[in-house]
Amino acid sequence: MSEADLEMVRGWRNHGEVRRWMYTSHEIGGVEHSEWFAANAANPSRFALVYELDEVPTGFVNLALDPVEPGSATWGFYLAPDAPLGAGRDLGRAALEFAFLVAGVDCLRGEALATNVNSITFHRRLGFDDKGVIAGHHRREDGTGHDVAFFEMTKETWRTQRESNRR
Ligand SMILES: CC(C)(COP(=O)(O)OP(=O)(O)OC[C@H]1O[C@@H](n2cnc3c(N)ncnc32)[C@H](O)[C@@H]1OP(=O)(O)O)[C@@H](O)C(=O)NCCC(=O)NCCS
Repeated sequence: MSEADLEMVRGWRNHGEVRRWMYTSHEIGGVEHSEWFAANAANPSRFALVYELDEVPTGFVNLALDPVEPGSATWGFYLAPDAPLGAGRDLGRAALEFAFLVAGVDCLRGEALATNVNSITFHRRLGFDDKGVIAGHHRREDGTGHDVAFFEMTKETWRTQRESNRR
């Protein structure tokens, strides 16, 4: 992601169908978004990525390397609201390839609100292992607690699945 992508990504991030699943669910203003981008760009443990489908920007992925546990990382993602069917799976595959082959990740962790069926299905379809649900793990800005589902994929699992998909 570059500075030229800021408004496009903010538009996706503020779309109701994306925002409702984020931990920070308020509408993101221009200044807040620019500050987030600058902090991210200055942090070598963080990657902000625009996913392109046939050279058309179609989604966003962020990857955060764990400062405490080397080799571990967490990710977040969303599609552009007008993304075509199947774009999610392709975004996921591209992001996994980036995490394991470019960013040096050995274990990628994902989490989703337990009501986010699309994200849960998406993680499972990509081959992530279910690591359980923690009740009330996420506290919303309005004070309400929400259950969170956790997922994990190791580089070894990813490599094995990738090879068997090729056969
Ligand atoms: C999470 C997210 C990236 C997942 O993407 P996705 O919905 O799996 O996207 P896809 O385009 O791959 O698939 C959409 C659906 O179309 C289906 N599909 C894919 N290709 C298809 C095709 N050619 N024909 C018919 N159906 C198709 C998929 O199986 C999927 O169905 P399902 O929802 O019943 O599993 C997306 O839903 C999203 O951006 N959500 C909002 C933000 C969000 O929740 N982010 C994660 C926070 S934890």
